[in-house]
Amino acid sequence: MIPIIELIYLVQVQQLGANPQEFILRHLGIWSLVLLFVSYSTSLVSLYGVKSVMNCRRMFGLFSFFYISCHFLAFIAFEHSFVMRDFVLDVFNRPFVFFGTLAALLTVPLALTSNNLSLRLLRGIWKKIHSLINLIIIFALTHYYFHKSAKNDFFWPVALTILLLLIFFLKKKRFFVKGV
Ligand code: HEM
Repeated sequence: MIPIIELIYLVQVQQLGANPQEFILRHLGIWSLVLLFVSYSTSLVSLYGVKSVMNCRRMFGLFSFFYISCHFLAFIAFEHSFVMRDFVLDVFNRPFVFFGTLAALLTVPLALTSNNLSLRLLRGIWKKIHSLINLIIIFALTHYYFHKSAKNDFFWPVALTILLLLIFFLKKKRFFVKGV
């Protein structure tokens, strides 16, 4: 909750810099991405010894969904004043909006099935639904690349891609060695 509390505080004391809307969008976007990565790596951290982190897995995922929803709402409010027709046109005009929307839409089935009842009812399908996290992260990173391409600044997107590949291969390695 700290990033959202920090944001509310900064709004209250009017410390959002020269462009408050941009600040809010970026703050929520960054935390959406950070929490996606945290959710994605929980199984790895647990495989390498910190088992208790699995208890927080659902919470990380749902918080990530919360920040993504706030980021999306802020975008619709600031850039399109809730005019959905304009938003839909924007989705097909700007690639970074397209990939962000795709990533955000894919998080909906995960959030809806992040409860014990769905886990019991869906069984095998549940795993398949939640493996969508791979696509979500790829689309979210693509969104980030397109966004940063406007400034020709690829440091963080590249750093996060390397981190993603590292997490991915460590997960695979552990799978082949231990079969878990
Ligand atoms: C999984 C979903 C998403 C993630 C993880 C995400 C993440 C991010 C990140 C990390 C940034 C860059 C912040 C920076 O410049 O440092 C960003 C920027 C932005 N995102 Fe997203 N995003 C997502 C979905 C969306 C959606 C659905 C929209 C709108 C339809 C959107 C609109 C924007 C906009 C407009 C910016 C630029 C803000 C600015 O610089 O003025 N994002 N996002």
